Amino acid sequence: MENTAHKLLIIVGSVREGRFGPVVGAWVAGQARAHGGFEVDVVDLADVDLPLALPAASPKHAGADYPRPAGMAALTSALGDADAFVIVTPEYNHSYPASLKAAVDWHFTQWTAKPVAFVSYGGAAGGRHAVLHLENVLTELHAVTVRDGLSFPNCYTAWQDGRPLDPEAPRYARTLLDQLFWWTNTLRAGREAAPYPG
Ligand SMILES: Cc1cc2nc3c(=O)[nH]c(=O)nc-3n(C[C@H](O)[C@H](O)[C@H](O)COP(=O)(O)O)c2cc1C
Repeated sequence: MENTAHKLLIIVGSVREGRFGPVVGAWVAGQARAHGGFEVDVVDLADVDLPLALPAASPKHAGADYPRPAGMAALTSALGDADAFVIVTPEYNHSYPASLKAAVDWHFTQWTAKPVAFVSYGGAAGGRHAVLHLENVLTELHAVTVRDGLSFPNCYTAWQDGRPLDPEAPRYARTLLDQLFWWTNTLRAGREAAPYPG
């Protein structure tokens, strides 16, 4: 394995006006930087051109020629460069936002044989249903989902000054990041040893 840092991309999935997502994303990025195992980058889907209408071909087979909008180029290259992902997702109607589905569907190989962890938030459900759906979808792209996620129910009252009120939250974040780090090491070594058969 090359002796370079593992690149972690944190994806802020909501794009709604007045959204809470960037608050959660900034806190997660702070926890990831404090962990020390990753070179951390954050992408906010609100900054990305994410049309719902896809080209005719599948991104799985089109490779670098897939005709994406210019305003998606930074996302595509960040996904491709990343060794690991944390998806920060709210819950909308017992699932995850359409912005995240579009970001997933415009890509394919960028996710393959890489680990994905989840930090979710929302009302009573805390993003639990959103994460279940994302796990299902990302498995189709040959990504590996990390079991221990972070979930923040009732996010508007459970957070203050940019951080969760639960004093245990940083410890839970550490567990998530330790598991993600293990998978990042393992899958990166695997990708470098042999092409993934899929
Ligand atoms: C369209 C919509 C649907 C929602 N559906 C749910 C839901 O099914 N379960 C839940 O726990 N919270 C639900 N919520 C609450 C959101 O998860 C909460 O408002 C969260 O802050 C949304 O993330 P955002 O602020 O980053 O957009 C919903 C909010 C919206 C706007």
